[in-house]
Amino acid sequence: MSRITGTGSFVPAKIIDNFDLEKKVDTSDEWITERTGIKARRTLATGQTNSDMCLEASKRALQSAGLKAKDIDLIIVATMSGDMPMPSTAAILQSKLGAKNAAAFDINAACSGFLYGLSVADKFIRTGASQKLLLIGSEVNSRFLDWKDRTTCVLFGDGAGAVVLEPAKGKRGILSTHLHTDGNMWDFICLPGGGSQLPPSSKSIRDRMHFIKMRGNETFKIAVRTLEKLALSTLKHNNVKPSELAMLIPHQANLRIIAATASRLNIPMDRVAVNLDKYGNTSSASIPIALDEVVKAGRIKDGDYVLLEAFGSGLTWASALIKW
Ligand code: UT7
Repeated sequence: MSRITGTGSFVPAKIIDNFDLEKKVDTSDEWITERTGIKARRTLATGQTNSDMCLEASKRALQSAGLKAKDIDLIIVATMSGDMPMPSTAAILQSKLGAKNAAAFDINAACSGFLYGLSVADKFIRTGASQKLLLIGSEVNSRFLDWKDRTTCVLFGDGAGAVVLEPAKGKRGILSTHLHTDGNMWDFICLPGGGSQLPPSSKSIRDRMHFIKMRGNETFKIAVRTLEKLALSTLKHNNVKPSELAMLIPHQANLRIIAATASRLNIPMDRVAVNLDKYGNTSSASIPIALDEVVKAGRIKDGDYVLLEAFGSGLTWASALIKW
């Protein structure tokens, strides 16, 4: 079994609040707050990159694990907004960090990316293929938002969260991870342009194909239904009751989705990590940022059960149960 031995996170300094967005598109602080729970989000400054954010979050995670960059043997970056299509953002991070003993690769499962990464990471450690692993979820969503589309630009933000994983010594660690995909709904949330299907052209740019598109309301309904089932089946798999959970750390897409999952599991909101009011939806970064905040605030202690769950483009959904 693997265990998280260090956490770290980084969010850019620039804050865009709902009132700033009122000046850009036909929206209101009231609509955004009521429908999503988001009050503000961060955006990365021009000239800075996804791997720069990974670097800051990684340094903090390494420090909290008491490790040096050269101790790391594998780096996995979960992202859908990497520095460039190739090489991987993980390879660029490896250089910036000076983690010369680490192999490095990216993983893309959109908002479920961190938990997909956690599942892969856990297996590397369980098989003995890795001893000290750095996993990061990091997104520069702001660069892929259509600032003329009020249905998406108010939702997303930038940020990065990192964890260090090592073999567990006792019975505490990642108990199980669960991954799911339904590719039939790939077009519910997608970024159609810029890949090999639709390379950049003046037409694709004119047609605004290089921005995130989302069928929000349909996604919302499936997310609520799916996440309840996912949380219950993850707990059942481990013979743990919802009442035994010390903390639920959900992906931060919408406060109404988070509250619905918590209420269906009968978990009070003071045992649910929420930070989307400050950062919006940071996709694969939302869970590791929230985890770092919860750890640093002393909200989880050794032996606590912590449930992580996410839902996003693919469609993908994933969960992990941790005995902290
Ligand atoms: O992280 C990956 C997974 N993503 C998710 O899980 C996101 C899931 N979806 C959601 O969070 C919600 O569906 C949204 C927040 C995206 C939208 O909330 P909703 O309650 O589902 O609203 P809606 O899409 O049904 O739109 C309701 C109305 C529409 O106007 P009409 O057609 O009723 O006149 C929209 O045009 O709200 C309008 N609207 C807005 N109004 C003001 C949509 N965006 C805005 C906006 N400001 N920003």
